[in-house]
Amino acid sequence: MKELLKNITEISSPSGREKNIRKFIIEEIKDYVDDYGVDSLGNLIAVKKGKSGKKLLIDAHMDEIGVVVSHIDDNGFLRIEMIGGVSPYILLGTRLKFLNGIVGVVGYEGESMAESGANIKNLSFDNIFVDVGATSKEEAEEKTPVGSFATYEAEFYDGGKRLISKAFDDRVGCAFMIQLLKEIEKPVDDLYLVFSVQEEVGLVGASVASHDINPDMAIALDISGGPDTPKHFKRMNFKLGGGPLIKIKDKSSISSSYFVDKLTEVAKKNNIPYQYEVLIFGGTNARGYQVKGAGTHAGTISIATRYAHTPHEMIDYDDVLNIVKLLKKLCEEGI
Ligand code: CO
Ligand code: ZN
Repeated sequence: MKELLKNITEISSPSGREKNIRKFIIEEIKDYVDDYGVDSLGNLIAVKKGKSGKKLLIDAHMDEIGVVVSHIDDNGFLRIEMIGGVSPYILLGTRLKFLNGIVGVVGYEGESMAESGANIKNLSFDNIFVDVGATSKEEAEEKTPVGSFATYEAEFYDGGKRLISKAFDDRVGCAFMIQLLKEIEKPVDDLYLVFSVQEEVGLVGASVASHDINPDMAIALDISGGPDTPKHFKRMNFKLGGGPLIKIKDKSSISSSYFVDKLTEVAKKNNIPYQYEVLIFGGTNARGYQVKGAGTHAGTISIATRYAHTPHEMIDYDDVLNIVKLLKKLCEEGI
């Protein structure tokens, strides 16, 4: 599955520009589903039929965070605006890759030592810029006009048990679903797999994806920032390698107790390690599904992740395999 993780995370496809990643996923899944379609927003929805008459919706967002060019100055330096939660501190010194392949580096302003020091302390999108190596405004406008989208440029790294990538959020969730499709023969319930768009800018895709489906249960697959690095969020309890996270709550939703009990039961029965997650910030697409129609049993399964929303998100490969196993067992047993 590492090959899949490498290929799916190295694609550049930020929120609102999901064409590249959608194309890749369609190729991966088309032989394993009964049907698939793309809605007007760009959500890719695939169906694998079961026999119980119940509907289980599983979602992972296929977009990733990024930036967009907002201004080009007379010397060809670019100003940018964020797409999703991107920190100027994380951007500084990184390479950005535009969808046409152009690469730029991120620098910051400062006309004196004092001003440089002050800007470093108060880094913001107002005092950083992107340099694509243009020698004039015209050249920059040619290469990366206002409105051009970019993502971090960073290679996938296979460290054996631990893996690093720019976009495990949430391509690892997409990979869980692709792998599930390849491994499962006949799910008990009708399986609706939603590869959703624009999660990072406000759970946009999930807000419409279940409109015609009316699922009996909806599960969002996503990453969760790991509190297991030095002095990091001592009020939280999960760690890399400790197994799938069954979310209890985050800032946007409280998982349905039916979901929590069901997933716990399946994990226990199949000797899959699991951890209960109480996240003191953030939110997932579970929120989007929970409040649709007359309401849906919704929850999130997440993978513990260090350095979320940086070019170097780190996860544990055993957690990857255990999440696929948990999903597979759930589909085999039914909701
Ligand atoms: Co995210
Ligand atoms: Zn995410």
